[in-house]
Amino acid sequence: ETGTLVIPVVVNVIYNTAAQNISIEQIQSQIDVLNKDFSGTNTDASLVPSAFTSRFSNLELQFTLSNVVRKQSNKTSWGTRDAMKSAKKGGIDPTSPTTTLNIWICNIGSNILGYAQFPGGAASTDGVVISPQYFGTTGYVSAPFDKGRTATHEIGHWLNLRHIWGDASCGNDMVTDTPTQQTANYGCPSFPKVTCSNGPNGDMFMNYMDYTDDACMYMFSAGQKTRTRAIFAVGGARASFNP
Ligand code: ARG
Ligand code: ZN
Ligand code: CA
Repeated sequence: ETGTLVIPVVVNVIYNTAAQNISIEQIQSQIDVLNKDFSGTNTDASLVPSAFTSRFSNLELQFTLSNVVRKQSNKTSWGTRDAMKSAKKGGIDPTSPTTTLNIWICNIGSNILGYAQFPGGAASTDGVVISPQYFGTTGYVSAPFDKGRTATHEIGHWLNLRHIWGDASCGNDMVTDTPTQQTANYGCPSFPKVTCSNGPNGDMFMNYMDYTDDACMYMFSAGQKTRTRAIFAVGGARASFNP
């Protein structure tokens, strides 16, 4: 057991409009959310249904902002093919990606909130990408995705977590203590929501790896913690982050 692992973060802001050049306050508001969500100290943890409280888990990660890199661009929308991660393609190269979590803030377009690279991919494209209006809790933010949970979700993928429904009907997310559920949940469901014979407690739709609104997701499970810790162990895909 390694205890709390500290992850240095570099935020790469690529903007076309002035609003997309988000403030340091907005960036810091996101770091604050991450430090709550990944230490299990988010205040909305009190909303976890009692049926799931024993599975609520602190992922024991702390995020420190080490730098912000900014760049103006004439490109209005970046898509999901990693161009923002390359100076040659008009973006910003990552900083020390084997020891630093790089986050790119740019307009992805097509109503995509964010996307992430799973462990095991190329260092040159490692990290997460989030559209500016879904990052942080203050400034240029857009409800109902204005509580910083897009970054929590994307970093969950970066830590090897799958969507809780396993990206298939009653699919497998490779975590045993998250109930099998039929598909993504949206908005803010009411408890319990039974699918795939997962009664009486039903879907863990308040898990960060579902698609519910920011205000309606507030937990990781113990099984998800086990899965995320494995990548930092000796031989794991992100062992280089473990001092
Ligand atoms: N659609 C995005 C993805 O699959 C993120 C969804 C995040 N949900 C939220 N409530 N912020 O990675
Ligand atoms: Zn996702
Ligand atoms: Ca599961």
